Amino acid sequence: MSLQPLPKAHTVAASRVLITGAAGGIGRCLHRALTGRYARLRLADRAPVEAMGANEETLLGDLADPALAAEAVRDIDCVVHFAGVPREAPWDAILPNNIVATVALFEAARAAGVRRIVFASSNHAIGFNRADAYVGIDEPVRPDSRYGVSKVFGEALARLFVDKYAMSVACLRIGSFRERPEDARQLATWISPRDMAELVRCAIEAPDYGFAVVYGISANTRARWTSPDAARIGYVPRDDAEQYAAEIAHIVPPPQDPAARFHGGAFCGLEHVDPPEGGASR
Ligand SMILES: NC(=O)c1ccc[n+]([C@@H]2O[C@H](COP(=O)([O-])OP(=O)(O)OC[C@H]3O[C@@H](n4cnc5c(N)ncnc54)[C@H](O)[C@@H]3O)[C@@H](O)[C@H]2O)c1
Repeated sequence: MSLQPLPKAHTVAASRVLITGAAGGIGRCLHRALTGRYARLRLADRAPVEAMGANEETLLGDLADPALAAEAVRDIDCVVHFAGVPREAPWDAILPNNIVATVALFEAARAAGVRRIVFASSNHAIGFNRADAYVGIDEPVRPDSRYGVSKVFGEALARLFVDKYAMSVACLRIGSFRERPEDARQLATWISPRDMAELVRCAIEAPDYGFAVVYGISANTRARWTSPDAARIGYVPRDDAEQYAAEIAHIVPPPQDPAARFHGGAFCGLEHVDPPEGGASR
């Protein structure tokens, strides 16, 4: 599916936008979709990024460095924070890249007077909720990994910055960003590149919304996550994983596997120990 750049925005409040993680899979998708739309687009990553337009700037370095984070947010209206390790990893990777860098960026944004942050959270913040129940945004967070804990941390930081500093922060609990879904779970969790770009565009441009948590999924027939805040930011997804169901619906884990029992899928099975017979159930 080819992704056309979205038309130029004439009247949005956020006209100078920073995207972190711009060299990554989702970052490149956002760059392609949003190029030319804002008065300034700054693209930050520790891996090189190539500018596409005259109004674009690139910034290379580690965002856990407070000096680099300060440079990244200077004269910016909205921070789109997608840099980070996107999977389960040891603490020595999760702590600097997902926690220290997120703190550095949020604090730099606040100090620079930035009013809005769009944060790439994850479904793995709620991954240990049971798969047989729907999950909205009021259920308790139940991270399924160190990675999931880092996203819960980011959401808590977001809540603090909204309540204490009157910022708008959207936490996008992204499901499975892929060109197309690859197994039965992703029939529920998939987000297409087109919907991903639209979700971020909405979170950048919607009128002040305070704190919002939105599941980053397409309009999937089999969706199990509900997002009342999607309407507040105007997100209306257009794709549906169901068109791929005939090819992938049979790709399922064994029923007793944690990957089948909990929302987080395979992340739940990593290092997983079942409670002893008669012990506390999950
Ligand atoms: N891909 C998905 O399906 C998915 C699902 C849920 C959440 N997310 C979140 O979305 C974001 C982007 O995911 P992705 O799939 O594009 O990952 P990715 O690994 O392709 O991109 C992440 C980018 O962040 C950069 N980065 C990491 N740490 C950095 C640091 N300290 N300083 C500067 N740059 C740094 C990396 O160089 C990389 O280019 C991540 O925060 C991830 O947790 C992704």
